[in-house]
Amino acid sequence: MSRLKGQAVVVTGGGGGIGRAIARAFAGEGASVIVGDLGDSAEAAAAAIRAEGGRAVAARADVTRAEDMRALAALAEREHGRLDVLVTCAGLGLSGLLATQDEADWLSVIEVNLNGTYRAIRAALPTMMAQGSGRIVTIASVLGKMGGFGYVSAYVASKHGVIGITRALAAELGSQGYPGITVNAICPGYTRAGMGIAVQSTKAGPRSGEEIFERYYKRQVPQRRMMEPEEIAQVAVFLALPESAGITGQALNVDGGFVMS
Ligand SMILES: NC(=O)c1ccc[n+]([C@@H]2O[C@H](COP(=O)([O-])OP(=O)(O)OC[C@H]3O[C@@H](n4cnc5c(N)ncnc54)[C@H](O)[C@@H]3O)[C@@H](O)[C@H]2O)c1
Repeated sequence: MSRLKGQAVVVTGGGGGIGRAIARAFAGEGASVIVGDLGDSAEAAAAAIRAEGGRAVAARADVTRAEDMRALAALAEREHGRLDVLVTCAGLGLSGLLATQDEADWLSVIEVNLNGTYRAIRAALPTMMAQGSGRIVTIASVLGKMGGFGYVSAYVASKHGVIGITRALAAELGSQGYPGITVNAICPGYTRAGMGIAVQSTKAGPRSGEEIFERYYKRQVPQRRMMEPEEIAQVAVFLALPESAGITGQALNVDGGFVMS
């Protein structure tokens, strides 16, 4: 389908598991995607999209650097004269107990997940406000609505913050003359991608994400399954369609029924 033909879309963390699926889904709808990420992963994701006939360019873009975020927005303006959709997907999933974790680790998770989301949004807003239209989709987590298992306090705190900035900005824009810019969060549950399947080192030895899901989470998920990255991506696409213009300030769980709020 080409429901977003001609639209300019920026995806931060677009070289990762979920980000790549999101970039591909937007390209599949006819949008031109600017994939931002660290290292070569952005170019790999963009090249894969182009190989399928989609439109994508890559940019090395670190969400801890405001100038990189401004460069992403400037690239959209230069290439397309607009910026229709921003998806903030860059994330860091360091684990560690709050009581023993190094402060540097705590700060780096907040820096990427929360402050990085802020920087990407801050850089995109001038263009969207000038247009009077835009869609901002933040990738939070179900751990933005609940505590974890005690190993991910910084991550949980950062994702609560992501939902907070999403809601606050939706209220701000909607009431300050910009109802055409919507801001919503997607809260994925355990997803078969990136940090959801990365091998995690534990005292009992390395374990796969699948094993962790089977052992600890599966019984609590009504659908008894992990999410697929494409399912997260299709919800991001939906939040960019004209049909979703009235949805703003929401944090949508895509988690097989794990969290029902
Ligand atoms: N996989 C899951 O189970 C799951 C569940 C809930 C939420 N999420 C969220 O989804 C998003 C994507 O996660 P994923 O599972 O695809 O993992 P991933 O590690 O594959 O993707 C994260 C991406 O962010 C990039 N990134 C990290 N630091 C960055 C920085 N400073 N600047 C720019 N990019 C940076 C990484 O290079 C990577 O490509 C994250 O925000 C994560 O918190 C994932």
